[in-house]
Amino acid sequence: MTDTFLADILAGLIRSPKTLPSMYFYNKAGSKLFQTIMQLPEYYLTKSEFEILDTQSADIYKDFNPSNRFEIVEFGAGDGSKTKLLLKEILTHTEEFVYSPIDISKSALKGLDKSYKVELPKLNMNPINADYFSALDGLKSKSTTKLVLFMGSNIGNFKDDGELDFLKSMRANISVGDHALIGFDLKKDPRVILDAYNDKSGVTREFNLNLLKRINAELGADFDIPSFEHYPTYNPITGEATSYLISLKDQNVRIDNKLFHFEYGEPIFTEISKKYSDSDISKLALSTGFEIVNNYYDCKHYFVDSLWRAV
Ligand code: AVI
Repeated sequence: MTDTFLADILAGLIRSPKTLPSMYFYNKAGSKLFQTIMQLPEYYLTKSEFEILDTQSADIYKDFNPSNRFEIVEFGAGDGSKTKLLLKEILTHTEEFVYSPIDISKSALKGLDKSYKVELPKLNMNPINADYFSALDGLKSKSTTKLVLFMGSNIGNFKDDGELDFLKSMRANISVGDHALIGFDLKKDPRVILDAYNDKSGVTREFNLNLLKRINAELGADFDIPSFEHYPTYNPITGEATSYLISLKDQNVRIDNKLFHFEYGEPIFTEISKKYSDSDISKLALSTGFEIVNNYYDCKHYFVDSLWRAV
């Protein structure tokens, strides 16, 4: 892990603009900060999706309509607080399914396993600690009917249209008639979106800066944390909410005996959180081998869980 981590960080810092992969946000401290973000008043995404699953899980199960034993595979399961609502509903109909949550964060999976064992004792669970792309391969070997969950707007975190490749690989690894339930954050008033990544209490700022702290702690780097600042932006045309860390002075940082120079004002690109319109979602389904079965919105129309069927 440390080797790949180091290689990814070094590769990102020789790029122009300098880039750090957002998947490394989620060490123990980062996962904890993300849990706090999900409760922030500005971070509407979790609340919107919670409402959808709280009020429409029965419809989702009805539309999925499995005819025999099935498996639910969840990419980026996190703490599972929202998925629990859907699983609870499904357990009222059947216990004949396996739930396989996949997450890059060991601590998030451990927490999920612990809480589900208490709250959903009848759930047959098979947690997998992996990144998305290695987990996609694992889908292929399973012959049961599948519902793939990719919730929480994780689909928005791919760079360079990577969601297209991800969805195409997902499609290639499942069968006609399998389903995917995907959570998209919708385009809306840009101020609402920007506030979600620029909360007044500064937790998102901490979350972004924690990446530098992690690189210091795990790779022996010497980032001077107060010399970098969180800078979020939103572009309503592309739907891209983007976060940067800005160097507040001309400085050098040493990682693995290599020196990286940061100019005053230079950005490090750390995260993209893409927002979609209804037509963006239809095009994405069509171009990756799916048809839309149904869309489930929250009452503010901020978020949608979209149920797709592989065709
Ligand atoms: C995990 N992901 C969907 C979050 C998002 O909104 O893109 C991560 C996040 N970054 C800052 N705040 C939340």
